[in-house]
Amino acid sequence: MASFDSEPALFLPFIPKTVLSPVIAVAVVALAAVWLSPGGVAWALSRAPRSIRGPPGIVLALAGTAAHRVLAGLARVLDAARLMAFSVGFTRFIVSSHPDTAKEILNSSAFADRPIKESAYELLFHRAMGFAPFGEYWRNLRRISATHLFSPRRISAFGEHRQAIGAQMVGEIRALMGTDGVVEVKRVLHFGSLNNVMMSVFGKRFDFGKGEGLELEGLVKEGYELLGVFNWSDHLPLLGWMDLQGVRKRCRGLVGRVNVFVGKIIEEHRRRRIDRDVVNQDGDFVDVLLHLEEEEKLSDSDMVAVLWEMIFRGTDTVAILLEWIMARMVLHPDIQSKAQSEMDAVVGNSRLVSDSDIPDLPYLRSIVKESLRMHPPGPLLSWARLAIHDVHIGNHFIPAGTTAMVNMWAITHDERIWANPNEFQPERFMAEDVSILGSDLRLAPFGSGRRVCPGKSLGLATVHLWLAQLLQSFKWVPSDGGVDLSECLKMSLEMKSPLVCRALPR
Ligand code: HEM
Repeated sequence: MASFDSEPALFLPFIPKTVLSPVIAVAVVALAAVWLSPGGVAWALSRAPRSIRGPPGIVLALAGTAAHRVLAGLARVLDAARLMAFSVGFTRFIVSSHPDTAKEILNSSAFADRPIKESAYELLFHRAMGFAPFGEYWRNLRRISATHLFSPRRISAFGEHRQAIGAQMVGEIRALMGTDGVVEVKRVLHFGSLNNVMMSVFGKRFDFGKGEGLELEGLVKEGYELLGVFNWSDHLPLLGWMDLQGVRKRCRGLVGRVNVFVGKIIEEHRRRRIDRDVVNQDGDFVDVLLHLEEEEKLSDSDMVAVLWEMIFRGTDTVAILLEWIMARMVLHPDIQSKAQSEMDAVVGNSRLVSDSDIPDLPYLRSIVKESLRMHPPGPLLSWARLAIHDVHIGNHFIPAGTTAMVNMWAITHDERIWANPNEFQPERFMAEDVSILGSDLRLAPFGSGRRVCPGKSLGLATVHLWLAQLLQSFKWVPSDGGVDLSECLKMSLEMKSPLVCRALPR
C-alpha cells in the first residue's frame, strides 16, 4: 500500500517510481521556469520572446489600493521604467513609466481598444464610448459627443448651470459651517458634480436624499463599487463561471434598475418632443441622441449605456480632483492666499467669478495643473488599452491581446522628469507652460491619442470655475483632525480619509 511519504505514487500507481521521479523533477523545473520567467506566468505561456524586464510569478498589486505605487516601485527596482512586463493570472500586461514609451503606446493605432472587465460588460458598457471596440460604432459616438456634448459652444452654453451649481455648493457649505462647524468637502462636491453631469446629459437636477435623487445616488454608488472592484474572474477564466465575488449577480441586478430609471427619462424626453414638437438640437444630450439622423440613430439600450457612462466618467473625476485641490489649499495657506489675491485683482469683490475670468487667472490654473501632477485622478490612466494586433514597442515584440497601462503617477513623481516632484509648487507652471491635454506625456492626466478623454475641456472648465468660486467665498483652514494625504485607489485615486475642514467667509 502506498504511504504518504511516497505521495505521487497515490496518483500514478502504475508508473514505476524510477520513471516517476524524473517526470516530477522535469515538471517541477518546467513550472519553476514558467513562474520565474521575466514578466511572470502569462508572458511565459505566450509566444513573445522574454525581452522585457518584469517581476516573475503573478503580480497581486492591482487587487490593492496602491497599485500605482507598487508598479512604480517594481519598475524602479528592475530598471524597467520604459517598459515592464507582468502577469495577473493569465492576463499579460505591459506598463510604461516613461513619457517616450507612454506616447508610443497611447498614440499607436495598435492600442486603440480597451480590455473589458466582466463588470463593465455586464453593465452594458461595451456599448458605451469608453469600452466600445475601436471601429465605426465607437467613431460615431465620439463624433456625436464631440459635436453635441463637449464642443466649446456646448461647454460655454452650460456655463450658467455650472455657476448656479457652484453657488448652490457655496450655500450648502455655509449652512454646514453654521450647523456643524466643519465641512466634509467631498459630499458637497460629489452631489454638485453629479447634478452638473445630470444637467448637461439629462437636462435635470436632482434633490439628493429623497425620491428620485436618492434612487439615483444608490444606482451610482453601486455602479462605482462594481466597476472599481478587482475581479479575479477577469484574469482566471476557469474561475469565471463560478462568480466567486458575486460581481456578475450584482451587475445583473443593477442593470435592470438602471434600465428602468434611465428608460423613464428617455421616455419623458420623447413625450416632450412630441408635445412641443421639438425639432432643434439645443436641448440636453438625450434630446441630441433622439434627434440623430436615421443612419446614426442608437437603440434605446445603447442610449442607456452611453448616457449612463457619462455619469460615471464625469462625476467622480471632477469631485475627487477638487477634493485633492482643497486639501492642498488647506495645507498651503500661502498658495491659497496668492490665488485669492490674484482673483481679487481680476474679479474684485463686487461680483461673482465666472467662466470668462478663468483665462485671466493663470495662478489658479497652475494650482489645478500641479494638483493633477501630484494627484492624477487616474494614476494608471483609469482604464487600460488592449493590443488589437501584434506590435513592437521600441525593440520589444508585444503580442495581440496584451493589456497596456501607462503609470502617469510614476512619471509625474519621477525626479529625473520633474524637479522636487514631491513638493506642491504651482509656480513651476508659471515658469513653464506645460500642456496637460495629451501632447506632452510628462503630464497627461487625460490620456493621449485616439482614446484621449473627450470630456477634458468640460472637466477642466468645471474644476476651474468651482475652485474659483470656493476660493472667492471662503478662507479654507484645517479642522482639528488636520489633513491626511493618504491615498486609496478605487476606480479613481481618492483621499483615504475624506477631507474635513473649516470654511470661513471672506
Ligand atoms: C478631471 C476630470 C477627468 C479626468 C482626469 C479624466 C481622465 C480620463 C482618462 C485618463 C481617460 C483615458 C484616456 C486614454 O485612454 O488615453 C478618460 C477617458 C474618458 N473620459 Fe475622462 N476624465 C475626466 C473627466 C471626464 C468627463 C467630465 C467626462 C464626460 C462627462 C469624461 C468622459 C470620458 C470618456 C467617455 C472616456 C473614454 C473615451 C474613449 O475610450 O474613447 N471624462 N478620461
